[in-house]
Amino acid sequence: MSQLEINTKPFLRWAGGKSWLIKHLSSFIPQSGYNRYHEPFLGGGSIFFHLKPNRAFLSDLNQDLIETYSQIKNNVSSVIDELKKFENTEECYYQLRQAQFEDNAANAARFIFLNQTSFNGIYRVNLKGEYNVPYGYRNKDFIDEKNLLLASRSLKNCTLLYNDFTDSLANIKKNDLVFIDPPYTVTHNNNGFIKYNKNLFDLDSQFRLSKYIDEIKQRDAYYILTNAAHEEIEKIFYKDGDKVLKLNRASLIGGKNAHRGQYSELIVTNVKA
Ligand SMILES: C[S@@+](CC[C@H](N)C(=O)[O-])C[C@H]1O[C@@H](n2cnc3c(N)ncnc32)[C@H](O)[C@@H]1O
Repeated sequence: MSQLEINTKPFLRWAGGKSWLIKHLSSFIPQSGYNRYHEPFLGGGSIFFHLKPNRAFLSDLNQDLIETYSQIKNNVSSVIDELKKFENTEECYYQLRQAQFEDNAANAARFIFLNQTSFNGIYRVNLKGEYNVPYGYRNKDFIDEKNLLLASRSLKNCTLLYNDFTDSLANIKKNDLVFIDPPYTVTHNNNGFIKYNKNLFDLDSQFRLSKYIDEIKQRDAYYILTNAAHEEIEKIFYKDGDKVLKLNRASLIGGKNAHRGQYSELIVTNVKA
């Protein structure tokens, strides 16, 4: 692996991105190795780009996202050429926000441009499915050509699929590793109240996800689940014999000083590493 490949970063900003988990990751990866890698809630793919597995299946229920990845994989020079036609100005942003192109590379460039120059990088659409995030007034250059080329290389042996996470079961086999990072359903807001995310990924989806994990285990494959550290979620994903850890973004949890409520992230895994 070359030095350049080691430094590939996600090319998108993504809500719930897991870059912060990378420093803890070695505790969760099977020591004896794994066969193929699966990421059924791909988003910005921070863990995939970090691990750079030889063979991977990457999927998400966001069709524009998956089409953008496919263009980066197969047509990266055209996407870069299209990106170079855009300017980081309010006028260009709002023009592109309205636009749809015939050309797939231009649509991927539009997706990346809006993601890099928007207010917070969150992908949000209105009821008509139109992207509606405001302009971000960010100074940062929105084209990272070197990283896009590296990302394209990392994606070469990947199968990219637009589908629900359950469809990924079709490809999961013994000794594969599945990294599962769903949207969170429950969080504590600043007042300590629980907020439910009804529209995106409701509690029924979490129960579906629990059954999906049971199926992965039956196939003797490995899984690593991240989720909100919340009692209700912990109950759903408690699996006899599997490891449950709580994290905050600064440090791995454990020890006598740990106390409840401090940890926002839950990790459940059958990796014994
Ligand atoms: C928390 S984000 C993943 C973030 C990613 N790990 C990263 O580092 O950027 C969750 C992703 O799940 C996708 N998603 C939501 N519901 C889904 C479903 N039913 N099946 C597959 N993907 C889904 C969303 O589009 C979103 O990209």
